Amino acid sequence: MCILQLFYYCYMNLKLLFTWSIYWALFFLLMLCSCSNIKSKDKIYIGFSQAMSNDDWRRSMNEAMKLQASLDHDVELIICDANNEVQKQISQIDQLIKDSVDIIIVSPILSKPITPIVQKAIDSKIPVLVVDRKTENETYTAYLGADNIEVGRIAANRIIASNSKDSINVVEITGLVGSSPAEERSLGFRKVIDGQPNIKIIETIGGNWESESIEENFKNLLNNSASVDYVFAHNDRMARGVWQVARSLGKENRIRIIGVDGLNTLNGGIQLVKDGVLEATILYPSGGEEAIKLAVEIVKNESFAKNNILTTTVIDKFNVNIMKDQYDKIYEQRAQIENQLEAIGQQQEKYYAQNNLLKVTMGLLAIIFSLALYSIYSIFTIRKKNRQLELTTNKVIVQRGQIEKIAQEVKESNEAKFNLYTGLSHEFKTPITLILSSIESILDTAKVKGIGIMSEVELIYNNSNRLLRLVNQLLDFRKLEDRKFTLRVSKTNLYTFSNTIFKDFEREAKKRNINFTIECNDEALDVYIDRNLMDKVYFNLLSNAFKFTPDNGSISISIINVFEKNIVKVYFSDTGIGIPKSEIENVFQPFFKGSNNRKNSSGMGLHLSKELVELHKGSVVVRSKQGAEFIITLFKGQGHFDENEVMLENDMVDPNQLDFGSDYFDHESYFMENEDSNSEKYSLLIIEDNSDLLLFLKNKLQIEYEIYISNGSDATEKAFEVIPDIIICDVNLPYQTGFEVCAILKRDWRTSHIPTIILTAMGGKESYLEGLQAGADLYLTKPFSYSVLMQSIQSLLFNREKLRYYYTNSINKLDAVSSFNNVEQEFLDRLNRLIKNNLDNSEFNVEQLAVDLAISRMQLYRKVKATLGINVSDYLNNFRLDKAKQLLEKTDLTVSEIAYKTGFSSPNYFSTVFKKKYGAPPNSIRI
Ligand code: FRU
Repeated sequence: MCILQLFYYCYMNLKLLFTWSIYWALFFLLMLCSCSNIKSKDKIYIGFSQAMSNDDWRRSMNEAMKLQASLDHDVELIICDANNEVQKQISQIDQLIKDSVDIIIVSPILSKPITPIVQKAIDSKIPVLVVDRKTENETYTAYLGADNIEVGRIAANRIIASNSKDSINVVEITGLVGSSPAEERSLGFRKVIDGQPNIKIIETIGGNWESESIEENFKNLLNNSASVDYVFAHNDRMARGVWQVARSLGKENRIRIIGVDGLNTLNGGIQLVKDGVLEATILYPSGGEEAIKLAVEIVKNESFAKNNILTTTVIDKFNVNIMKDQYDKIYEQRAQIENQLEAIGQQQEKYYAQNNLLKVTMGLLAIIFSLALYSIYSIFTIRKKNRQLELTTNKVIVQRGQIEKIAQEVKESNEAKFNLYTGLSHEFKTPITLILSSIESILDTAKVKGIGIMSEVELIYNNSNRLLRLVNQLLDFRKLEDRKFTLRVSKTNLYTFSNTIFKDFEREAKKRNINFTIECNDEALDVYIDRNLMDKVYFNLLSNAFKFTPDNGSISISIINVFEKNIVKVYFSDTGIGIPKSEIENVFQPFFKGSNNRKNSSGMGLHLSKELVELHKGSVVVRSKQGAEFIITLFKGQGHFDENEVMLENDMVDPNQLDFGSDYFDHESYFMENEDSNSEKYSLLIIEDNSDLLLFLKNKLQIEYEIYISNGSDATEKAFEVIPDIIICDVNLPYQTGFEVCAILKRDWRTSHIPTIILTAMGGKESYLEGLQAGADLYLTKPFSYSVLMQSIQSLLFNREKLRYYYTNSINKLDAVSSFNNVEQEFLDRLNRLIKNNLDNSEFNVEQLAVDLAISRMQLYRKVKATLGINVSDYLNNFRLDKAKQLLEKTDLTVSEIAYKTGFSSPNYFSTVFKKKYGAPPNSIRI
């Protein structure tokens, strides 16, 4: 028990520990997630709508922007490439508005069509930074780019400055019409050229910023016009195209070309100037880096200028090398920065990974630490419990010692009582023997004198004999206890032996009209038995059969020589009330009394019989079917006995030698037993308004029954109050008819089980039928014979006993049995249901059961006793114990759990009653 508790305790601790660890782990996981999730809230989202990305100028703009953005951790740059498609650019800007970016940078393909979407962004409270090309009006937040008018002007001035000729022919190659740089560059260029009388713009070719767009036209021009001195192309790509056309015509050395952009790339302006392809290029910075810086300032609400003009300058053969060097250095530095950024990125990733690892480690350390603390705590608690356990164990050991001492004292005191008991029994024997011999001499004298014997003398004789048998039985029991029986077996013809005893019971059988028979398949069979002892066995078994078999029943003895084996079997069968199945194993226990046995008995007879048969190395078993059947099995021959146990004497049965000491040899007392004890009497309610008849019946019946009477005015009330064992009811009553009384009582489950005899003067078939309909068990017409009434009462009670035996045997199957009388069935159903529903409730007792059934405790007690032949509290207890036994056999629940589940207030109490009922402690069922 204590070890179980300790295990349970450890199990609970481990469970708690495990749960605790899970909580900790979850807590740290949560912390980890929450750490890594800190993002995006403070970031600046910049959406950049790039016109296109298919040329170096645009690509370098994008790269510069990306680099600048990556320098600032708070900046997230989203680049959307419109691929030179106006509609695409509009929808991309629209998407950026929907995404609610913090700022939109736009480099419009064309001014006019992009203006409304920029307006929309501004209306949506998203600032717009326009770069390079402008929109139509100035609704944007800020503009950043070089001054294109200035670019045109510088280009014009470069032409003026480098020429001294009288007349100069210039061709202007423009960018895409509708884009602001093309228009402004042209404007600035023409403003200056127009003031120069010797410089003439002989042709303007409209391009789209790419060389292919102008090559055809320029070729035609060269083929038609002889003299082109200068070409001003709006960007270096178109300028290179011009040079390629001129070279194809062999005119490249005569034409000086000025481009715009000044990129330091493979075919960029700086390289073209260096190679002498271009006269000059006007630096047109993309401003990617500055655009990001300005965008951040705008988002952060810092002060900024609306127009941010990037410086421009001319790059020609005089400064091209310096410019190239400077750009190379810038590119180099950029590359370094990029490398460093990449390295920083890697370091950062490492940092984050290590940081997370650190957090996990910290978390695990915390869990381990708490687990360690908890383990220490548990160890201390377990130690404390162990100490308590030790103390309890010591206490138990001391108590056990005390109990053993008390048990020893009790044993000694019992021994003393037994000695007194045995002594007294011996003392009784002498006077009884004297009485018996005196009576025998009276009988002999009477016989000699031919005088009739008074029935009282016969009564004294029979009862003295009975007393003697009982005393002998007591002494035999004591002898058995002390193992003082010595066996003296001798060769005996079993049939002759059995037949002699059979004859002694024949008179009784005849008197009670019992069909008593003996049969044998081998009348010559000899066995070795101690005739004196075997005689006791026979008498006990036959007395038992006669005691429980009603008049008109049957009893048989059959002797079967089992030829193929070395055994012989003797069957004692009767058609009595039988033995409840659940009790059959206990039949041979000393002092056992069956729950359906309402007769007097010491409970020693069957025990003695079994012990005596076993002294013969044989066995006795019992079966219960239509009554009871005891089967004795004996070995043939003498090999199984000790030599000193075998007597050499004649095979003869001398009845005078037999000691008829039998507990059950009371076939006489069958009719007298009710005189012995009032408590064992059946109770009888007589309902009769004729006071003479009532008095007559009362006087006659009160010898054997406990009588209650009613004159009919309180018939049903009286029946409910008394719950008698049987009712005799007259039909003609003043208040209600006997049929009505009977019907009420049969419908009410408090009284439904009581056998009812209707007495009536009406002998008609109809009233007989009415009586049957009312549920009467028997119908007697006046004048009736008293002996018929007596016999009827006895048969009804006997049938009741049989029925009760049936119920008792079916206790565990009552749910399934539906063939009972419905009122009884209903009562039993309700009773069982209430017990079942309250099985785990230790407070649920007989009082509560009575309250729930809405009857008094006494009524419940009598009803259950009458129906099931068992005390109601025993019934309740048996129900619990049966259920507990089932749980022990079929589940893994602990004994304590089962004890509480079946309504026992403590496991110890449970174990005690369990052991009492099943002879072994509950634990033993598990082993
Ligand atoms: C690049 C480009 C440059 C030019 C600029 C004008 O796409 O064509 O060559 O200077 O656009 O917006």
